[in-house]
Amino acid sequence: MALYSQKVMDHFTNPRNVGSIEDADGVGEVGNAKCGDIMKVYIKVRAGIITDVKFETFGCGSAIATSSMATEMIKGKTIDQAFELSNKAVVEALDGLPPAKLHCSVLAEESIKAAIKDYYDRNNIPYDPKKFPDCAHCEGCGVG
Ligand code: FES
Repeated sequence: MALYSQKVMDHFTNPRNVGSIEDADGVGEVGNAKCGDIMKVYIKVRAGIITDVKFETFGCGSAIATSSMATEMIKGKTIDQAFELSNKAVVEALDGLPPAKLHCSVLAEESIKAAIKDYYDRNNIPYDPKKFPDCAHCEGCGVG
């Protein structure tokens, strides 16, 4: 069996939603403590719906593929639905990642959550801070 699924290769070689949004409503940036890679996610929100999302990453192929898939999965969804997106769901949608690369998928989930938190902060929307643990790293998250 090939190391990477066709979907991973597709999203790696032809990533969706790459770039930035100048007038974004929320921006989240996280770094991966395991490898030093960085990801930034921009979201545009209208009436609680994520109408647009873009990402920039200095990361490996698996990070690019998971970010591409994750951004596709949250586009058009509510903020709450986007918040619920787990890296495991993204990995499943990609038909899996090699175990050694699972930690890369955490970057996408965490940067989306960071962008949502930024959106809440900018708009003075109350939220439970416990929903947003200091996840600027993947150590201790149990994944990867
Ligand atoms: Fe850094 Fe994959 S090796 S995110």
